[in-house]
Amino acid sequence: MRQTYLFYWKANLLTGILLALGLGLLNQPAVAQEHEEINLYNTAVDVRVGGRYFQRQCSRCHGADAKGTDETGAPDLTGTISRASTDFGIYNIIRKGIQGTAMLPVPADTPDPKVWQLVAYINSLRINPANIDLTGSPDAGQSLFTSKGSCSDCHMIGGTGGRRGPDLSLVGQRLDPDELKIAMTNPDELVDPRWWTMRITQKNGSVVEGLRMEEDTFSLRVIDENADLWSFRKNEIQSYERVETSTMPSYTQTLTEGEIDDLVAYLFSLRKDN
Ligand code: HEC
Ligand code: HEC
Repeated sequence: MRQTYLFYWKANLLTGILLALGLGLLNQPAVAQEHEEINLYNTAVDVRVGGRYFQRQCSRCHGADAKGTDETGAPDLTGTISRASTDFGIYNIIRKGIQGTAMLPVPADTPDPKVWQLVAYINSLRINPANIDLTGSPDAGQSLFTSKGSCSDCHMIGGTGGRRGPDLSLVGQRLDPDELKIAMTNPDELVDPRWWTMRITQKNGSVVEGLRMEEDTFSLRVIDENADLWSFRKNEIQSYERVETSTMPSYTQTLTEGEIDDLVAYLFSLRKDN
């Protein structure tokens, strides 16, 4: 599911960096192409169109509210989809059906956008707050974010905070509670390439690490955690490597489980419609 948000991230970082530096030096190589199967039909309109299609084609088994029905054995689609963990996985279920079950493929002439609109609709159910019970307290989470958690050192919400991580103002729309929890407990699991860093060892042995801004055959530019920009000619450094792990620490040691739940509840409440 995260793949979908790549463009949002890029746009965000772009704004952030341009603001921070006041320079138009961003001419970065495209990284998005590594994921080929992104849902490009994921707007509010697509969700509505997908919902109408769902009522016609799917509700007789899965129910009008998509919560499943006992008569048909079709499962609840508003929680976790057990047979798929990505958008593309859900796409494949709808496109190919589930062999040996009543879940048949959509008609072969169904256009791709239509299938993706169904995926968008199903996702919208899954992260609909009305379908989710959270144990944490959003208010407690909000204060942890700026106090004990120090999350605001790196993340912006509503225009305040740091720029070393993605803006989280609408993160509740992009990630579901499980994903939010993984982001805090196991940040290396899903790192968007935009947040990979470069570690550069200079000839004198000193090391610079930062987000990759630009790279071509001969040169490299990175921005370090103090927002200082570094430029290197590749033939003038000793070595460089790409670091694909997150610069965000895991919080399993520093926050209690209850505190993590509070932060999940707070972040999940961050969405456009409230
Ligand atoms: C004839 C009844 C029927 C219809 C119509 C139907 N489904 Fe299903 N669907 C099922 C059944 C039964 C399963 C469970 C199969 C299994 O895993 O054993 C299922 C499973 C699924 C799953 C996987 C759920 C999970 O948790 O892994 C998805 C996603 C899904 N259906 C989406 C759709 C969509 C979208 C449509 C409409 C295009 C649709 N279904 C139409 C019966 C149906
Ligand atoms: C040292 C800087 C830093 C700190 C401190 C930090 N983060 Fe992060 N965070 C990042 C970076 C960089 C990423 C992007 C890479 C990744 O996915 O891990 C990220 C990603 C995330 C994401 C996923 C965002 C998305 O759009 O996928 C969430 C949620 C998040 N952080 C929440 C938190 C919370 C809550 C705290 C405080 C408990 C926190 N972060 C503290 C740097 C930080």
